[in-house]
Amino acid sequence: MKTGQTASIERYTGTAIVLHWVLAIAIITVFAVGLRIGAMPFSPAKLQLINWHKWAGVTILLLSALRLIWRLTHRPPALPAAIEQGMPGWQRVAYHAVHHLMYVFFFAVPLLGWAYSSAKGFPIVWFGVVPLPDLVAKNAELADTLKALHGLAAFGLMGLVTLHMAAALKHHFIDRDGLLQRMRPGRT
Ligand code: HEM
Ligand code: HEM
Repeated sequence: MKTGQTASIERYTGTAIVLHWVLAIAIITVFAVGLRIGAMPFSPAKLQLINWHKWAGVTILLLSALRLIWRLTHRPPALPAAIEQGMPGWQRVAYHAVHHLMYVFFFAVPLLGWAYSSAKGFPIVWFGVVPLPDLVAKNAELADTLKALHGLAAFGLMGLVTLHMAAALKHHFIDRDGLLQRMRPGRT
């Protein structure tokens, strides 16, 4: 199918589209901040950035919960038959697997970060206002493991996101099948 035939493509709901783009920007930004923190020497500026990283990460966790609830109650439109038939079997499997796995990581990454913070003995006060419960008791050994797992999971998520973006851009620029219309910001 070529671009001219894309006018009738059914789109995700406005709420799903807003959540997609807000979270896309937030997750990439928080990932970059995480990398920056890792490279900084110990300083008050680093501690402040860690706090912002945690607050933003918890916000991503909450928005992801909202997104999942919305997703379960508002099924996205089925892929147009022409796009679906144009995909070899492995691509169809990869399409669903990457979407599902990204959702798993949207929860795993911030929860591991939160658990790491608890194990390290730093309680989280969200934006300096809302105290959050500790997920695990203070434990230096566990903290080291959770720190490594949080970093690994964050890189895993970015790997999936990279595959996802490459696939979305391939559909747009190479296949020109209008798939991007389904998630494009704007009304029509
Ligand atoms: C989707 C959300 C998040 C992403 C993408 C993310 C990503 C990252 C990355 C890439 C690092 C650097 C890892 C490394 O150096 O190997 C990091 C470190 C860290 N993250 Fe997150 N993170 C997220 C959420 C959270 C949350 C919710 C918390 C805690 C409430 C948190 C706490 C931390 C802490 C304490 C560090 C270590 C800083 C240090 O001492 O070097 N993160 N994060
Ligand atoms: C160049 C940037 C991006 C483009 C062009 C893009 C495009 C799209 C498109 C077109 C869809 C709908 C696929 C369909 O029709 O079924 C989609 C879905 C999705 N995108 Fe992206 N995306 C981008 C970045 C991101 C990022 C950074 C994330 C995560 C951090 C993300 C997470 C998702 C998820 C989880 C879905 C599945 C939504 C659902 O079915 O609930 N995307 N994206």
